[in-house]
Amino acid sequence: MEAYENGYFTEENSVEVVTGRNKNAKDARLKEVMDVVTRKLHEAVKELEPTQEEWFQAIQFLSRTGQLCTEWRQEYILLSDVLGVSMLVDAINNRKPSGASESTVLGPFHVEDVPLSRMGDNICRDQKGEDMLVHGRILDTEGQPVEGAIIDVWQANDEGFYDVQQKGIQPEFNLRGVFRTGADGSYWFRAVKPRFYPIPDDGTVGKLLGNLGRHPFRPAHLHYMIKADGFEPLTTHIFDPDDRYINSDAVFGVKESLLAEFRKVETPARIRELDFTGPFFWEVEYDFVLART
Ligand code: BEZ
Ligand code: FE
Repeated sequence: MEAYENGYFTEENSVEVVTGRNKNAKDARLKEVMDVVTRKLHEAVKELEPTQEEWFQAIQFLSRTGQLCTEWRQEYILLSDVLGVSMLVDAINNRKPSGASESTVLGPFHVEDVPLSRMGDNICRDQKGEDMLVHGRILDTEGQPVEGAIIDVWQANDEGFYDVQQKGIQPEFNLRGVFRTGADGSYWFRAVKPRFYPIPDDGTVGKLLGNLGRHPFRPAHLHYMIKADGFEPLTTHIFDPDDRYINSDAVFGVKESLLAEFRKVETPARIRELDFTGPFFWEVEYDFVLART
């Protein structure tokens, strides 16, 4: 018997026999990954004792999930999201020093090359929805303003759709903006109040959620990606704490520190000052703290 063989396969020694075959792996990290995955997978199979039909069903689920993937539809990322794995990988890779803002999932709706806006611009390009003023500061962990930070923001509209999901209905770059902070680190822009929305749920992941008695919704949020020289990039959201799904986000993206206040303002002078036309607007103030590299 070769040194890397551990005998014939049995139910008892299945892990050792399979992982033993990987002894000559060229990539040590690949070997480590496959050893752990094999061990955990065999453990699950031994605990669950699936029938042949159940195992075939599992394989079919994975096949159908792969068949749904295109450049625009990433069903495996959704699977990772609803299993909490995306958030776990995000947490492991974004451990922040105390006081720095927390990260959360990127999601599939970020768009590159959005044109730079001027501070104060209204990123709602179709005048639909309830007016919203968003403002705050970009700070370092000592509370000092960060000049020259690039703030890339994107959100769903008041019906829960991103512009890229409604091409031809919403204008290009609707509810997206990129801003650059000045010396005081402050930012402000105008938009409309976002709404909760379902993650794409017409595929295998949506069916799985339904079978598990879970809904597919994400609570209303604004996405931010903030970059500045000398600081770790921050990918995060801020959330509406009054949203009906705030405690049951389908992808587990909510963190307590990311709850912002959406304050209703009905003062006519302030409404006029901001060039809004409705009887009220929502005011959201949120400061972000960046960690130094
Ligand atoms: C999002 O917030 O854009 C998102 C995140 C994960 C899955 C689907 C959507
Ligand atoms: Fe989103």
